[in-house]
Amino acid sequence: MNNPAVSYRVYDPKRFKFQDMLRGTGYVNRHFDWIAFAYDRLLGPPRTDKLVRLLNLPVRGRLLDAGGGTGRASAALHPFVDDVVVTDISLPMLRQGRKRNGMTTVLARTEELPFPDEVFERVVVVDALHHFSTQRAALAELARVLRPGGRLLIEEPDLKRPAVKVVAVLEKLLLMESHFITPEGIAQELSRTGLSVLPIRHDFRFRAWIAADKPVSLS
Ligand SMILES: C[S@@+](CC[C@H](N)C(=O)[O-])C[C@H]1O[C@@H](n2cnc3c(N)ncnc32)[C@H](O)[C@@H]1O
Repeated sequence: MNNPAVSYRVYDPKRFKFQDMLRGTGYVNRHFDWIAFAYDRLLGPPRTDKLVRLLNLPVRGRLLDAGGGTGRASAALHPFVDDVVVTDISLPMLRQGRKRNGMTTVLARTEELPFPDEVFERVVVVDALHHFSTQRAALAELARVLRPGGRLLIEEPDLKRPAVKVVAVLEKLLLMESHFITPEGIAQELSRTGLSVLPIRHDFRFRAWIAADKPVSLS
């Protein structure tokens, strides 16, 4: 699992500005680079109990935390799997994660993961799907790297909650290029990948969890 990712600057005539590109195809949103040093303190601890339950842990094998940033959410999952791999497009976010023991970090867009098919027993995406520039391609990649019989879990702010609508507007104003979709929309996109979607869970305040299993017969 070497890291083949490189970022460089190109001029985008459609946007009239220079952009950072990763591996020749994707724009890199730099907002998280700037707040990486304080990110874990700003966000606070993850809902580990919920993640453990909904990911049906413990399990033998690898867990992928895509758009995992500093590894804030998956660091606590390490005791429940053999290995945790965190991928992200922000090097400063990953560098914070590297300070943690036992975590493999890889600079990569979720839309083009540098892994073979079906190598992860579990895949988790926490608060990151709305930041991915091409969500359909990202979900297809996540389904591709998931082992048959494995589970993918997405935790996202629930767009139907008023507080999340405010966050969505703020992120627009901050030019973060976020694209929020409803939990039902995520479930629909996931079923297009061939995964079996489980009933959606909500905390009825801010978050929703969408889990899906890869059928053993699907390859
Ligand atoms: C709100 S943070 C969440 C980080 C982590 N999952 C957590 O819960 O602490 C969103 C992360 O998604 C990353 N990101 C945005 N677009 C991405 C993409 N296309 N592929 C991989 N990571 C991406 C950002 O760099 C950032 O670290």
